[in-house]
Amino acid sequence: MCGIVGYVGFRAARVVLFNALKRMEYRGYDSVGMAVLKDDVIQLSKRRGYVDSLHVDFEGTVGIAHTRWATHGKPDDRNAHPFTDCRGDFAIVHNGIIENYSALRKMLAGAGHEFVSDTDSEVIAHLLEEHYDGDFKDAFFKMVSELRGSFAIVAVHRGERRIMGAKNESPLVVGIGDHENFVASDIPAFLDYTNRVISLSDGEICEITEDRVKVYDFDGHPVAKKVQFIDWSVEDAERGGFEHFMLKEIYEQPRALEETLHNLQSREVKLPGRTEKISFVACGTSYHASLFGKYMVERYLGIPAETHYGSEYRYRDKVRENPLVVLITQSGETADTLASARIARRRNFRTIAITNVLGSSITNYVDAVFFTSAGPEIGVAATKTFTTQMIALHYLILETALAWRRISRTVYDRSMAALRDVPHMVDRVLEIDDRIMGLAQKLAKKHDMYYIARGMSYPVALEGALKMKEISYLHAEAYPAGELKHGPLALIDEDVPVIAVVLKDKTYEKMLSNLREVSARGAYVIAISTEEEVGDYADSLLILPESIPETGVYPATVLLQLLAYHTARVLGREIDKPKNLAKSVTVE
Ligand code: AGP
Repeated sequence: MCGIVGYVGFRAARVVLFNALKRMEYRGYDSVGMAVLKDDVIQLSKRRGYVDSLHVDFEGTVGIAHTRWATHGKPDDRNAHPFTDCRGDFAIVHNGIIENYSALRKMLAGAGHEFVSDTDSEVIAHLLEEHYDGDFKDAFFKMVSELRGSFAIVAVHRGERRIMGAKNESPLVVGIGDHENFVASDIPAFLDYTNRVISLSDGEICEITEDRVKVYDFDGHPVAKKVQFIDWSVEDAERGGFEHFMLKEIYEQPRALEETLHNLQSREVKLPGRTEKISFVACGTSYHASLFGKYMVERYLGIPAETHYGSEYRYRDKVRENPLVVLITQSGETADTLASARIARRRNFRTIAITNVLGSSITNYVDAVFFTSAGPEIGVAATKTFTTQMIALHYLILETALAWRRISRTVYDRSMAALRDVPHMVDRVLEIDDRIMGLAQKLAKKHDMYYIARGMSYPVALEGALKMKEISYLHAEAYPAGELKHGPLALIDEDVPVIAVVLKDKTYEKMLSNLREVSARGAYVIAISTEEEVGDYADSLLILPESIPETGVYPATVLLQLLAYHTARVLGREIDKPKNLAKSVTVE
């Protein structure tokens, strides 16, 4: 998620902008850049790398800056922001995705504009140049009217002490100072200088000088805005008011799921036709997503699929096979998954990666890449990157099933409609956060617990138990419910709660019997289900929004994330940075 900032006032802009970029580092980024106006000149510096690598001695008190999280085009110096037009009259920074950029780029190139990057954002600078007729503000409004998609944009024009900004579905806030004003992706960027803030809404444009802030709608009508006083600390503000990044990221899931679907829909997405078997390879949470993928492949494509841990696959003996290898890694940097990709390549298997990070190492090791659009995840415990991996796999498999004629158009349409409803279902689950807190109080008093499920819900149980282990430090183990009687049932008693995911699929009745089994041994049973009737078999029932089993797994996952989060919170754990764990495991 890019971070953007603009400043106009009396201080050295390079210092204000540098501090703001440092404050936005937590958003995650791969490149950085700054443009500062001095008299009639735009001084510009940008590069791949971190904020500390940006050494500038620009003079001037008006400027813009950016941290880039790559979406279109590799993370490199060329694709870093700010961008200028052909003559260097305008500089812009952008966060979001310009959906119609390729049509705009073609049109602008036809009109003689020269592009220097692979980004969607660069069209903005050239559109300003194209529309400029002596009035920066007028050109800015015309430019915005041509854009489709999500954007927060900040722009400057050489020789003018004025910043223009626009917001549509990407964050942008204005900071009000005394003889200085700020605009940025979020409040921490300028909280060292002012706590007076105007939050822009979608479809608004701001015009900022050192002494004035004006807000308009996209049609140019003035909009009256309220100034809010912020009493958060910078650290609170980075977390958007949430106590932990993990909680913030759990709440970001509806948006992340929607964006992932949206971005996948904008290109042709399907598996190669000659595939006879799929081998998924991944680690940790990504492994659980791959297990969900296996169930989906077998159900919708009717070909065998197997899952491997990266740490095992890399040492696997050679067997007679020719699978399509699908590597799943949110960071794209996990050492065991990268080593597995190299092995798969050496064995001449076709390879595909699913990752959240454009330009990450895995993208260099595979034949094709599909991206999730979760945005950066700061909490060590994966949350939004997991559900977006699931939805990416889900979408990919449904598209492939239609292309391979394994499902009819009617089934496809029905399944896609259900998939598009997932972000709303997740939203609804977030509303019962309070009930989950009550259950967390109970769990926090225990030392061991079991998670049970069957079929497609089993990966959800595994993931729920992993979340609980890694952030609460309580022992949590997931089992396919039918396996309990082959051993672990011996451990079940009143001190060992059982958390069960019960969806209305072909194993539903069997799951009810499994609940009876554990209840009879004294376990406190927490069930997560779409069916009210399950309440008769459990001590507590968390009810899911009505759904088919394939999509019920998403809200069920989010409930289990919240259950782990609140349990860890009751226990006072270091939730965002659990002991002994790292966000990205780049060593073997
Ligand atoms: C999950 O909460 C963990 N942080 C961990 O299991 C993680 O999923 C695993 O290390 C794999 O990471 P990757 O997706 O970046 O490859």
